Amino acid sequence: MTTQDTPIKQTATGDPVLPELRVNLVRPTDPVIGRVVTNELCTKGGRKASGFVRHVAIDVSGTPLEAGFVTGQSFGVLPPGEDDKGRPHKLRLYSIASPTRGEDGQGKVLATSVKRVLDEHWENQTLFRGVCSNYLCDAQVGDEIRVTGPSGKRFVLPADPSAHDYVFFATGTGIAPFRGMIIDLLESGVNSKVTLVMGVPYSTDLLYDDDLRALEAKHENFRYVTAISREPQADTPKKLYVQDRITNDPLGDGAGSLPASLACERTLIYVCGLAGMELGIFRGIYEALGRDGAAPLITVDDEIAGDPSSWNRRMINRQIKTSKRVFLEVY
Ligand code: A2P
Repeated sequence: MTTQDTPIKQTATGDPVLPELRVNLVRPTDPVIGRVVTNELCTKGGRKASGFVRHVAIDVSGTPLEAGFVTGQSFGVLPPGEDDKGRPHKLRLYSIASPTRGEDGQGKVLATSVKRVLDEHWENQTLFRGVCSNYLCDAQVGDEIRVTGPSGKRFVLPADPSAHDYVFFATGTGIAPFRGMIIDLLESGVNSKVTLVMGVPYSTDLLYDDDLRALEAKHENFRYVTAISREPQADTPKKLYVQDRITNDPLGDGAGSLPASLACERTLIYVCGLAGMELGIFRGIYEALGRDGAAPLITVDDEIAGDPSSWNRRMINRQIKTSKRVFLEVY
């Protein structure tokens, strides 16, 4: 997981102020024991699901992690056992999917969204099982897990959430931090507009779909837009990536639509998921708003300004720069 932590250009207006956060309350050299309290599928599954994603909740009460994290931060898991060189497995980081109040309302239980990693060793065509993802997905209620953290100070909500509107772009398990952030925002009672654009291969892969639809029905200021990449959508026969929703918004470019939200100087943009999606989103914003309209979010050097199709990931932070209103966490 790579977090954008290089200094970024300030915009004239609308810059968020981030809260001061505590990190590393529990270090990898001295992990604490959490206990699994829930382990359930958070996709609908079905014949066309592209993978298994589980919502794993861990009780960290009585440890420094209790009420010691905010949504958007990560925690560490130390899987048991050794790698093929006989060294203890390294720490893996997982995004906290819970709101800041935790799953239980008191910060005692934190959760994450874990996708099983299954692949093939290319050298000998045997099954490769992702070490920590399968360890967590296999865990039974009551099992003990060695945990650390929290980590991360930048991919979080601003100190004054009411000062901004929000567009969240997620692919797959990139939804994890946004589940918590959206619950934090909606429960805080702010009037901010909150839009989630969620991308998955098949509609049966949508994570927390029923919960998100229920939140949308309950909160007028929350909009949930899906982008299914291998099936037609309910509103259009096209197959879409999240960035394609900028020009395929059922609301067009009217009030509350993605183009209108992206153009608003109150709006913060958060992107989480597959590496590569950020470039598509930058292109989508640039093409929808034009170079000047996009400038409060992304600025692009002259030599590549005329041809967004030529952009690549190496240009990010060099020829393509994001403002403080853009938050990236891609992996
Ligand atoms: P696809 O795999 O059909 O190309 P998951 O993590 O569950 O596999 O979901 C990731 C989603 O992100 C899929 O719908 C995937 O589409 C989509 N995706 C893949 N590459 C990109 C990209 N460059 N930009 C945006 N979405 C992407």
